[in-house]
Amino acid sequence: MPLRTAVADGVARVTIDVGRCDACGRCVQVCRGGPLQWGGDHIEVDPRRMFGCTGCGQCVAACPREAIHVEGRGLAVEDQRPLPAAGQRADFGQLNALLQARRSCRVFRPEPVPTEDVHRILDAARTAPVSLPPSGVGVLILPGGNEVREFRRGLLDVVARRRWLFRPPVVWLLRARLDAAQYRLVRSFVAPLFDAYLGRRPEVAPGEDYFFHRAPLALLFYASSTSHPADATIAATHAMLAAQSLGYGTCFLGFPGFLLGQDRGLRRRYGLPEWARPGLALVIGRAAVPPVRGLRRHFAREDWVFNVPSES
Ligand SMILES: Cc1cc2nc3c(=O)[nH]c(=O)nc-3n(C[C@H](O)[C@H](O)[C@H](O)COP(=O)(O)O)c2cc1C
Repeated sequence: MPLRTAVADGVARVTIDVGRCDACGRCVQVCRGGPLQWGGDHIEVDPRRMFGCTGCGQCVAACPREAIHVEGRGLAVEDQRPLPAAGQRADFGQLNALLQARRSCRVFRPEPVPTEDVHRILDAARTAPVSLPPSGVGVLILPGGNEVREFRRGLLDVVARRRWLFRPPVVWLLRARLDAAQYRLVRSFVAPLFDAYLGRRPEVAPGEDYFFHRAPLALLFYASSTSHPADATIAATHAMLAAQSLGYGTCFLGFPGFLLGQDRGLRRRYGLPEWARPGLALVIGRAAVPPVRGLRRHFAREDWVFNVPSES
């Protein structure tokens, strides 16, 4: 039965060029949607098996003879392209150096990010894995300082209207729905942060942008109601690393998506589809204060698990 998602229905079409196919069977080995099966001396396609072709593209990737094509569920034949040469791919040392040099940037220079770089960042972000193909991720692109400021203004209206929700008596009432650590965090962080966004804290200088850090580019990632919410986060992470590799400073913002999710009017104004579940925002620009020293980071916990005794 075809997988029906918010953005796709039906199966993709798999075509095998029998003139090229030497029936090596690699495509059958990697197919999990189920339509490919071994037919004795050839490959058979049966779209009624299991989910039919979901458009995952594993068969295309595995075929050494370019004998298999998939169309539909977001894929076109032109989407099939050669892999980057091995020597072009970042190795661990290069990738790790990029990761170790990254820091969140909260002071941006005002110059815009050229459109060409926005496209490069999106091109890299589109490679992100998704919970179920085709991608249910969408991205709202605010391509300049004016657009980011206007978006921020809309979100600050939501903050101003919802500020009462984070006042101590209401938070106290909400505590039954939060664990102790969440309750303390809302009290100590969210309420003062929203005041800072609104410029109502003495520590925030007049005109300071504590919310979007005056970034010249913002990307707001969202995922469909049938996607895993992590899909938007993974795409945003790819975009962050791509921007970093182009020499930009970046910072994730958690609250724009949360606030957008609270306001139907704003979602409509920005053309978000009904199925959109707003996720992470990413701001990008040239860093005014680039990092000159690194930090060793730690997870809260790392537990290697060997030979766990079986439950008696
Ligand atoms: C899900 C998520 C939400 C975040 N939201 C914000 C935010 O709203 N504002 C902000 O300035 N930084 C935000 N950050 C950035 C973190 O504060 C930052 O990653 C953290 O301080 C660690 O610093 P580093 O990125 O320099 O290693 C967010 C990061 C993540 C992963």
